[in-house]
Amino acid sequence: MDRIELSKAKSFKGEFSPPPDKSISHRTVIFSSLSKGKSIIKNFLRAEDPLRTINAFRTLGVNIKDTGDEIIIDGKGIHGLREPDSIIDCGNSGTTMRLLSGVLSGNPFFSVLTGDESLRQRPMSRVIIPLRQMGAEIMARCDDRYPPIGIRGKRLRAIQYTMPVASAQVKSAILLAGLYAEGETEVIEPLKSRDHTERMLPAFGAEIKIKDLHIKIHGGIELQGLEMYVPGDFSSAAFFIVGALLIRDSEILIKGVGINPTRTGLLSVLQEMGADIRISNIKEASGEPVADIYCKGGRELKSIHITKEKIPSLIDEFPILCVAATQAAGITTIRGAEELRVKESDRIKTITTELRKMGAEIEEFEDGLNITGRRGLKGAVTESYKDHRIAMALSIAALIADRTTTINDVSSVSISFPGFFEILRSLTT
Ligand code: S3P
Repeated sequence: MDRIELSKAKSFKGEFSPPPDKSISHRTVIFSSLSKGKSIIKNFLRAEDPLRTINAFRTLGVNIKDTGDEIIIDGKGIHGLREPDSIIDCGNSGTTMRLLSGVLSGNPFFSVLTGDESLRQRPMSRVIIPLRQMGAEIMARCDDRYPPIGIRGKRLRAIQYTMPVASAQVKSAILLAGLYAEGETEVIEPLKSRDHTERMLPAFGAEIKIKDLHIKIHGGIELQGLEMYVPGDFSSAAFFIVGALLIRDSEILIKGVGINPTRTGLLSVLQEMGADIRISNIKEASGEPVADIYCKGGRELKSIHITKEKIPSLIDEFPILCVAATQAAGITTIRGAEELRVKESDRIKTITTELRKMGAEIEEFEDGLNITGRRGLKGAVTESYKDHRIAMALSIAALIADRTTTINDVSSVSISFPGFFEILRSLTT
């Protein structure tokens, strides 16, 4: 499916479970492959990005079976991977490429990682610099800026590294390389980014110490396979949360959603804007908090000021937050969000361009936006830039716009949310 046409909805009604978490799905495959013995993963996200990670580890010699019900991985241990006989294609997946760079830096063979047109324009020096400090031979195109990346793994030494940007991908790459290093590797984050790696690795047997923004990992410790259940993805649920708030007569219940506080900045922002959102049935799955999220539409939202400190906890929700801000009274300001320029697309630019076509009033800054709210949106022909989260954010905008909106290139939704349009249709009246 290449393009979709959507028009104004009366309401969103019903309940559903969002797809499994993308970040956690990647990590289950990586950590299981590096463990000794068998791991079983239930509720794995069978979407393009995590399937890239499965393919990568198959290329590295790991036996991974999908029974349809669960993913079964015969782990090789941290030293059991074999040299790939071809380049590894990470597709659109930054998580696959960056986390794998950390793993391959500690493996004594040669490998090359590449990706699609979007991934080949995303910055890689942020992982190359620390991994080289640890002793890896690692390089990339354009002075180490862009993929492909070539890696010859080496014996690594532990480092203490202060990260210039808050990035869970960079943090995880260094921690994974730290598994191979002699001694204790320490990463210091400027702001807290998603902490799935630190939560999950100890369950596999890794020795990790966390103190505020300092994370230490001890090298040389073997991991042991285990059984995991992947919670629902908050970032996928986010599109429907905002949809329900903006479409007047809506009432939805989203079940089994991961509510890890490093991921749910959008919830507190929307609540502060005046949204009717309620959390219930809080449980735990594989060390992650999970809950049901109830949302009711119709309340007037008011604008909000978002600064740098808040950005990491809502990094992937920026496009849909912009859609919410177009309907909030007053001017919403977002600053310190320059990382959004180096995502699957330059999300500051792409969401500004496309929402403006629909009648939104947005002023663009290098590190963010001002959005003047309560602007009635109108249908337009829009582009997704093959960015899954732009495609989904525009789809929700289309449901509150007058007339029909066309969104081109929506097949990218299958990167994180293959059933997105089916759920959208089932909830819409
Ligand atoms: C991810 C981290 C974030 C996020 C991405 C997934 C992860 O990227 O945007 O979708 O799984 O670690 P950065 O770490 O580059 O901010």
